[in-house]
Amino acid sequence: MRVIEVDNYDEMSEKAAELILEKIKENKHANLGLATGGTPVGTYRCLIKDHTENKTSYKNVQTFNLDEYIGIDPDNPNSYHSYMKANLFDHIDIPAAQTHIPNGNAEDLAIECLRYDKMIEEKGGIDLQLLGIGTNGHIGFNEPGTPFASHTHVVELAQSTREANARYFNSLDEVPTHALTMGISSILASKGIVLLASGEMKADAIYELLYGKIDEEMPASALRKHSNVTLIADKDALKKVK
Ligand code: F6R
Repeated sequence: MRVIEVDNYDEMSEKAAELILEKIKENKHANLGLATGGTPVGTYRCLIKDHTENKTSYKNVQTFNLDEYIGIDPDNPNSYHSYMKANLFDHIDIPAAQTHIPNGNAEDLAIECLRYDKMIEEKGGIDLQLLGIGTNGHIGFNEPGTPFASHTHVVELAQSTREANARYFNSLDEVPTHALTMGISSILASKGIVLLASGEMKADAIYELLYGKIDEEMPASALRKHSNVTLIADKDALKKVK
């Protein structure tokens, strides 16, 4: 795993945006895997700034999000559909039909999971997957114990994940209990992966990721089995490593 140490959140965001922009320059038809949560907001801000100033175009890019809550309307401000529009899609020139997010309101969720994996495969797979990491080591919504062989699937969210995400809702009760997420195996199928981590809260997870056992109890440790992963982490997230 390549590790890029940066001073702070802003530097992490700039570096991540740089890698994404390099990928688009290399291939204007790039397939990008995207994440939500607090960590990538700064990266998206950098991409928007670049789009405004340098006119990088996303007309031929396709995006694939990692996950979506089950049972909230796509128009709900807390859905990941809304998050992606507000933080990126509404500010760049990507056609809506080229942005893909699992449908957490599908009538048959098992079929939706199969459809999502198949669609990614049919479109040629993901060239660069952006990831954040949970304090318990989750990636996507793959909580500890998720099989490394998992494809897109329905998950029950860990209490710690619901509590961490409650900041976006009026109360913990409103945080959905279930979500659809790309599986560990779907994530590892990406040709390249960029994992972001900022802040002391992530220090234990980053230590375990780099030095702990490769074990399903630590979902992110699966990334050590992939040959093209770049971790961009700030000093606080790397605190336990030194
Ligand atoms: C989001 C996702 C999650 C987050 C993780 C960290 O699409 O899949 O794995 O990356 O929960 O969240 P933040 O960035 O809010 O600390």
